[in-house]
Amino acid sequence: MISKREYAARRKDLMSMMGDNSIAVIASAPEKVRSKDTLYPYKQSTNLSYLCGFAEPSAVMVLLPKRTQGEFILFCRDKDALRETWDGRRTGLLEAKNTLGVQDAFPIDDIEDILPGLLEDKSRVYYSAGKDKAFDSRLMHWVDEVRNNRTVEGRSSCEFVDLDHLLGELRLIKSAAEIKLMRKAADISAQAHCRAMKHCATGQKEYQLQAEIEHEFTMSGASGPAYTSIVGSGSNACILHYIENCATLKSGDLVLIDAGCEYQNYAADITRTFPVNGQFSAPQAALYDIVLAAQEAAINTIAPGITFDQANQAAISVITQGLVDLEILSGKVETLIAQGAYRDFYMHSVSHWLGMDVHDVGDYKVDNQWRVYESGMVLTIEPGIYISADNTQVDKKWRGIGVRIEDDILVTKKGYEILTDAVPKQRNQIEKLMA
Ligand code: GLY
Ligand code: MN
Ligand code: MN
Repeated sequence: MISKREYAARRKDLMSMMGDNSIAVIASAPEKVRSKDTLYPYKQSTNLSYLCGFAEPSAVMVLLPKRTQGEFILFCRDKDALRETWDGRRTGLLEAKNTLGVQDAFPIDDIEDILPGLLEDKSRVYYSAGKDKAFDSRLMHWVDEVRNNRTVEGRSSCEFVDLDHLLGELRLIKSAAEIKLMRKAADISAQAHCRAMKHCATGQKEYQLQAEIEHEFTMSGASGPAYTSIVGSGSNACILHYIENCATLKSGDLVLIDAGCEYQNYAADITRTFPVNGQFSAPQAALYDIVLAAQEAAINTIAPGITFDQANQAAISVITQGLVDLEILSGKVETLIAQGAYRDFYMHSVSHWLGMDVHDVGDYKVDNQWRVYESGMVLTIEPGIYISADNTQVDKKWRGIGVRIEDDILVTKKGYEILTDAVPKQRNQIEKLMA
């Protein structure tokens, strides 16, 4: 759990980066209609969750550094017995003040009357645009009105600044409490992958493995998957974001599962690839071992001070060499790397930040240079090789095989820690677990 004190410290850190005479406006995520009066499950904006943990829709938080009457204002829905009977409990203004560290709470319906006044003398508005078009245009309108009045009065204008950039910097380095939650998300997800390996059987459907995975998530206290689970058997594994999950598992095929849970707002992201019948064939084993070696080489680069690109280059180098050794590519390894020849078989990046979002916030480059790792960052390492079933350029035995191996890594002071190593990835360990 994230404590009230940690939320307050996050807001304080953000406000010290914003500087005086500025305001941050952080809106809740909009609700999404599935049909008529049925909604998709609600997912709060992770920026808002990060700053106060409030989980309800129709809320806007406002931060005003150095405002004497209070720096943290929340607009939210007030109590409403009838709506709560239909839609669920609401925190209400009073409770929000008592539990969230809010200094002033107002009904969301009053935002029109109050927020423009708060914008009036500010020179910078921090805001994360593009996530809720309706709220974007309301805020633009209020800021425009303030700007127009100022021109008349001859005062300076008001600048929009991207809030994601500042919050990205804060969210990139995980606190001890965040690491604890991420460890838990990683452990649950690792157990779920083990469960899928144990329950896998020829003739089952991909969605039945998905059910095994997601059963473990929910039974262990996770809120559910952090992203739509990918269960791709046979050549479906070559579709990077395959989510149909409806094919029958065939003996002799591999199955690729990319799934991770969300636990108290923090995500895990694991991929394992294993044989449906519990035994790797020789061509599957050959490709698998290259991906595993690439993943290990990439992970081994990680330490504070090392750049993001070094993991990528390590993976590319092992994959290219491996594909040459198997005569899937031909030519000099250095030339093939320079030409990007591996991209026909490995077409995504090796890594992304991980946190409250599966593809978490945070810049990958700073001043156009690859960002240097720091202790407390969490990232994935996930190389793969995917040989399309239609690729007539390669020997038939390779066609329709897709392999990805993905773990979640915490950068530590001395190097790294693999958060997801409770799920096996050596071939003999997988075969043993499945036997
Ligand atoms: N699960 C999406 C990814 O691995 O990036
Ligand atoms: Mn990933
Ligand atoms: Mn993944």
